[in-house]
Amino acid sequence: MKHAETARKKAFIRTYGCQMNVYDSERMSDLLIAEGYQLVEDGNDADLVILNTCHIREKAAEKVYSELGRLRINKAHSKAEGRDTIIAVAGCVAQAEGEEMLRRAPAVDLVFGPQVYHRLPQLLSRASAGERVVETEFPVEEKFDTLPKERHSLAAQRASAAFLTIQEGCDKFCTFCVVPYTRGAEFSRPVNVILDEAKQLVNTGVCEITLLGQNVNAYHGANDTGRDYQLADLLAALAEVDGVERLRYTTSHPRDMTPDLIAAHRDNSKLMPYLHLPIQSGSDKILDAMNRKHTAAEYVAIIEDLRAARPDIALSSDFIVGFPGETEDDFADTLRLVSKVGFAQAYSFKYSPRPGTPAADSELQIDEAIKAERLARLQALIGEQQAAFNRNSENTVFPVLLDREGRNPGQLAGRTPYLQAIQVEAPAELRGTIQQVRVDRAGPHSLFGSLDEMPAMPSAGDRGIQMAGASN
Ligand code: 5AD
Ligand code: SF4
Repeated sequence: MKHAETARKKAFIRTYGCQMNVYDSERMSDLLIAEGYQLVEDGNDADLVILNTCHIREKAAEKVYSELGRLRINKAHSKAEGRDTIIAVAGCVAQAEGEEMLRRAPAVDLVFGPQVYHRLPQLLSRASAGERVVETEFPVEEKFDTLPKERHSLAAQRASAAFLTIQEGCDKFCTFCVVPYTRGAEFSRPVNVILDEAKQLVNTGVCEITLLGQNVNAYHGANDTGRDYQLADLLAALAEVDGVERLRYTTSHPRDMTPDLIAAHRDNSKLMPYLHLPIQSGSDKILDAMNRKHTAAEYVAIIEDLRAARPDIALSSDFIVGFPGETEDDFADTLRLVSKVGFAQAYSFKYSPRPGTPAADSELQIDEAIKAERLARLQALIGEQQAAFNRNSENTVFPVLLDREGRNPGQLAGRTPYLQAIQVEAPAELRGTIQQVRVDRAGPHSLFGSLDEMPAMPSAGDRGIQMAGASN
């Protein structure tokens, strides 16, 4: 037995970028575990290193090349010790660069895109035989059909919250974005395979599921009888799955925020009161140049409808500053929109020209110093709103899913329904349960709390999940 343990090959996966990449890395881990690999937390003595990469901004892509430089040196050392580490690059940089990656990074053995990672076992045997392999096809249906059903990697992490990809790709073609090129056309998985995967997640100990898609609210998949389900229908079906306590979805496009999905925020008691809804800019001129297909007023109207349906809903968004042609007035529109909406949190970025996207060719590029200055002003405003939102939570009781170890001994960490990170004084046995937690103190980015009542200890029958309170 001991011998078998030591003989197992070690794999290390480093994940960059979005939640979809986190999901993809978990699925690659499942495949590798099925192939007999042991997943390790340190790439230095691994037999296989996979970088699952992000191409969304230049900085993200450049990080990969500096990491590959470091790995090249490691690989030379391990070769000297008689071990031949395979270095693989997966994800969106791999998809975008393909063959070019082999030229730029001599240490790389294998390059494969986000829609072909299910072929990893075959790709690895070709790489082990000495071939430098590049695979960038888009067989997205085949991928989902062939991935292992079991989620061993989540079970190993004792995860109680997990991602589930229901939709991939994007047909929107915002002029700044690489996703339609790296992830391909929109594809929705059928309803029943999603329900099966949710049940599988529950069996591994998961009670909170975040549905993923680049354009998740454009989801439309068929059920067994051929009926077309929109995202609201799918959320309703998932809410019926025994053991699913909490549902979230990300990332949405304002154009696909349909009345029935807004109504789901009122009617579906498992759907958490939080929504990430990127707007990118508050200026109609810039929204048009970005090909967003909606105005700032339309976005605000959606927010009003959402708040009418679910008054306590917490909102998040993405912003790009310094998009080509953005004037100080356009940027002031963005600040005004943020002030008007009031976000619980938001992400903001300097515009980064991406090769092959229309906006990269614009002659109206904005100076880096102006971008940096605008970003600082926007982030200051968002930071104030986030701190105010967190302060408002003080002395309130929320049902919190305690999904991982806390920062300090005697603590567990979790998320409130509004996705705020919270550290809770709680015994280790409560990990994986939902408990009523009083927020004692709010920091700018996270909360600190304690159990509000005598906790219901987990029992084998309910897999340790105590139902959330009425505030869901
Ligand atoms: N430059 C800067 N930010 C970008 N995003 C996407 N493409 C770019 C780009 N070229 C941001 C958008 C998107 C988020 C995932 O990343 O805000 O919503
Ligand atoms: Fe990119 Fe726009 Fe599609 Fe979002 S909607 S993935 S920003 S092209």
